[in-house]
This record gives sequence, structure tokens and C-alpha cells, in this order.
Amino acid sequence: MLQTDVLIIGSGIAGAVTALQLASNPSRQITLITRALDPIESSTRYAQGGIASLGPHDDIDTLVSDILVAGAGASSPSAARILAEDGPALIQSLLVEKAGVAFDRTDNNLLHWGREAAHSHQRILHVGDTTGLAIISALMDALRAYPNVDIIPGTTAVDLITFPHHSLDPLDAYQPVICHGAYAFDQNERTVHRYLAASTVLATGGLGRIYRNTTNPVGARGDGLAMAHRAGVRIANAEYIQFHPTALATPGADRFLISEALRGEGGILLTPDGRPFMNNYNPQWKDLAPRDIVARAIHHEMETHGYSHVLLDIATHQPAERIRERFPNIYSTCLKAGVDITREPIPVVPAAHYSCGGVLVDEWGRTDIQNLYAVGEVSCTGLHGANRLASTSLLEGLVWGYRAAVHIEDNLSQHPPQHIPTRHEVPPWDESGLTVDPDPALIQGDMQTIQNLLWHYVGLSRSDIRISRAIRELRHLWNEIESFYRNTRLNDGLIGLRNAVEVALIVAQAARHNLLSRGVHYRSDTNNP
Ligand code: FAD
Ligand code: SIN
Repeated sequence: MLQTDVLIIGSGIAGAVTALQLASNPSRQITLITRALDPIESSTRYAQGGIASLGPHDDIDTLVSDILVAGAGASSPSAARILAEDGPALIQSLLVEKAGVAFDRTDNNLLHWGREAAHSHQRILHVGDTTGLAIISALMDALRAYPNVDIIPGTTAVDLITFPHHSLDPLDAYQPVICHGAYAFDQNERTVHRYLAASTVLATGGLGRIYRNTTNPVGARGDGLAMAHRAGVRIANAEYIQFHPTALATPGADRFLISEALRGEGGILLTPDGRPFMNNYNPQWKDLAPRDIVARAIHHEMETHGYSHVLLDIATHQPAERIRERFPNIYSTCLKAGVDITREPIPVVPAAHYSCGGVLVDEWGRTDIQNLYAVGEVSCTGLHGANRLASTSLLEGLVWGYRAAVHIEDNLSQHPPQHIPTRHEVPPWDESGLTVDPDPALIQGDMQTIQNLLWHYVGLSRSDIRISRAIRELRHLWNEIESFYRNTRLNDGLIGLRNAVEVALIVAQAARHNLLSRGVHYRSDTNNP
């Protein structure tokens, strides 16, 4: 058993920033756990395009307005304003000055501002096309300098510890629900430990891996959302899953992301026979229309004409040298997959990319359970509404990671916890009855079933018939998985599978209830506005 002031679950940008801000008080003990063996492994690590800020000739009101327009009327105006007002200063103070991130500059040593879809200005800061890697590496290096921060990789949170649910005192049933930490599985020792904490922060990222085609890394399976759901936390906007229009469509490339920044630099979408088509769908923004519009346009072209993919042409619009310099990672990854992007168009398809909804939080990252916070992609601040504006999620992780840390620090210093439960008051993880070893075939097979169901029936175009079918099959699978979970020794894959089926049901049920097409949620069977 381990006792700490603040337990942070997840070491992407949101968890890392929360830890970094809290670490400045040397008397505060911070414990950062991650299921990954390498702490930088996360969606953050793969972010390409960059982080939105305020570019030259730009202003807060325009950024707010772009967020609200992309969000299709469902974004919280106050969350958008917090992001636009606080974000640029936090990029400077935390990322540039404290962590030492060096964003790309021009030959004249001015910051280079990238352009992405539905942004009125060039306002995206980036480090080549591996911005996330630069940010998370710098944050981890900065955190390692603090003796009061303990980073524990290879540790998968299984469930939140909440009272009265886990309390041994029956009188706790009359108290408000309160979080005291989490049970977490040590992948090395193969045991579950209790991590007791005065404050707990969910920073577990997204859930793209519940879809067959996704840009997300293997850890994005909705663990935090499932844990929060089991603890009874309020969840919002789960149906709003954003599909990125352009993932590489070559065999074996695992849907590698082709950044929107390519279209920002003049790249054009074409049908396989070379016809530009975005003008037919959005004459105002064309290839730089909001993501939901571009992804659905591609889906429509593919479905109507039976194409297996469409093409993205940057080679005609930028010199080869500029392409290699601006997109070195995309260039070399595509080359390995057999596509020379300086000479030929790139085959692309849409892929699940980002969860706009999640654990509902306020402006300080507080959930509706006492002492439980959620930051980053697992959370729903309301910012993204029904469709996220490009490059605002790293910024949201930064802003809300910082704000949650400020609130936790204020709260702990003004109201030191009266009573942190001891190991006698929180039951140990019950491993009795776990007699069976996890079967990798079952885990992989069930995971693929979930991914196929979500891709075909709760994907880019949804209807009651499709979603209801998915829900029936997912319920059956949920029962199967729960029953073998009850007698199987834990491993990280089993924990993820149990969470994935729970989250798939949350998304599917939210999609069925919402009859109105808005942003990324498109219903083909209802009267759309
Ligand atoms: P993550 O960075 O995903 O971190 C989650 C952490 O939680 C990881 O450490 C993971 O190991 C850990 N974790 C998960 N489950 C458990 C568990 N059960 N127990 C313990 N630890 C757990 N956004 C932008 O703004 N700009 C971009 O250019 C951009 N490009 C992107 C490109 C790609 C390919 C992808 C996939 C996303 C991109 N995004 C981009 C989105 C953005 O990267 C993510 O939304 C953001 O990084 C999420 O940060 P996070 O800290 O919330 O979660
Ligand atoms: C991209 O580079 O296209 C991804 C940006 C984002 O997801 O915000």
C-alpha cells in the first residue's frame, strides 16, 4: 500500500503538467502512475500538427469564435474563453520557460505559425511534425528534477477507491461520495496495490482503440472513462467521437496520421482518379473545412463510388525540399510504407481520432465526486462541444492540467484532509477465486469484435438500426467478459478489454439517445437540420 498527497493516473501532457505545477511545493508528495513501460508513451507522444496559440494579427475573440463554430453550437463559451485567455501565457511559462520546449522558428528567428482546418489565422506552434514528442519529452525531463515526484511506469489503474463503495464502515453510506485513490496493477509483480491519496487525478487520455481504424496508440482504450463510470461519475457528450479525415491507408501502416498541417500547407484531397472534391461539400473552407465535414465528405465519396481510399496531394503544391523539411516524420514513415510524398499523392482514409466528451468537469477539472479530478482527453470541459477544433487538445491538457493543480494545491493548503483512510479502512484487492490465467486469444478476439462493431455500427454515419445492433452484441460481450474477469488472474490486456467493452457501450448508448446530427455525430435516419 502506498500513501501520497496527489495520485495522478496517466503521464501524457495533462497528467505531466498537473504534476509539474504541483511539484513546485516541495512538501507535496506527488505520485504519477502510467500503464506504459516508458512514461512518454501516450497519445501526446504522437501529436503532430502542434498546439494552438495566438498568432500574429490574432486575438482572443477570434480564437473563441473559431472554437465555437467548430464545436457546432455545443461548445461551452466559458471553457473556450478560459482556453483562449490562459493558453498562450501557459505555453510560454510552463512549456517554453519551465520545460524548455523549443518551437520551430523561421530563418529570421521568429516563431513559425502553422495553419490548420477551421482556424481563421496561422496560429499553430509546432516542432517539425513531432510536436507531441518534443513536449512530453521536455515535461518528463523537467519532472525528473523534482524529488517529490514519483513516476511509476508499468502500473495500470484498475478501479478508483471510493467511499462508501469501498469503505468498511457502514456509516459512510450517509456521507457524500469521496475518492481516496485507486487500486493499481503492478505489471512486474503481477499484484494489485492500494494507492491512497488526498486528491486523485484521472489523466488517462482517450479511447480511439475501441475502433478498428484509429490514429490512437494501444493505450487509448478508455480506462479512465470506464473507471469513472463504475464509480458513478457523470459523463457527457460520449457520442461525439471525432474522426480524423486523413490516416495513411497502406497495408501494415496501422493508420498512421497524416497531419492536417499538410492541408494547411496547400495539400488537396482528390478522388483516386484525380478529381478534387471538397469544393462540393464546403465551398467556403474547401480542404480546410472543419474535420467532421472533411471526414464525412471522404466517407461519402468512398461509399458512393466504392473507393477503398482517397488521395492527399502535397507534392504538386510544395517543393520536395520544403516537404522534407516541414514534415520529416511523415515523409520518412510514408517512404517506409512505399509512398514518396514529395512525388506522389498519399492514399488516406478517415480514422477514429479523439473523444470530444468524457468525464464531466468544471473550470478547475473537478468531477462530481469529491477529491476526484479529470484532465485532458478523458475529461469533458465542454470546450470541444460536438467537434474539436484542430490542435486545441494539447492546449486543453495544458490549461486544465495547470488549473486542476492550482485547485488541488489551494484545497490541500486551506483544508488539509481531516482523515486519510488507512489500510485497515480500505480493503485489499480481493484475489481469491482468481484461478484461471488470462487467455490472449479471448482478449484479442473480443477486442477485435468490439473494434469492428464500433467501426461499422457507431462510426461516421449512424442509425438506430446500426447502433441498436451494436448495443445488443456489446451487452452480450460485456456479460461474457465480466464473467471471465471474475475468475481470471489480472493482466494489463484484461483490464483494458473490460474497460473497452464498458466504454463502447457508453458511446453506443449516448449515440442512440441523441437523434440530432450535430458536429461529428451524424444520424442518417433522422431529420437533420
Ligand atoms: P495521453 O497523452 O493519451 O496520456 C494518457 C496517459 O494515461 C498515458 O500515460 C497512458 O499510459 C496512461 N493510462 C491510460 N490508461 C491507464 C491506466 N489504466 N492506468 C495507468 N495509466 C493509464 N492534439 C493536438 O492538440 N495537436 C496535435 O497535433 C495532435 N495530434 C495528434 C496526433 C495523433 C496521432 C493523436 C493520436 C492525437 C493527436 N492529438 C493532437 C490529440 C492529443 O494528442 C491528445 O488528445 C492529447 O495528447 C491527450 O493528452 P492526455 O494527457 O489527456 O492523454
Ligand atoms: C493533426 O496534426 O492533424 C492532428 C491535430 C489534432 O488532432 O489536433
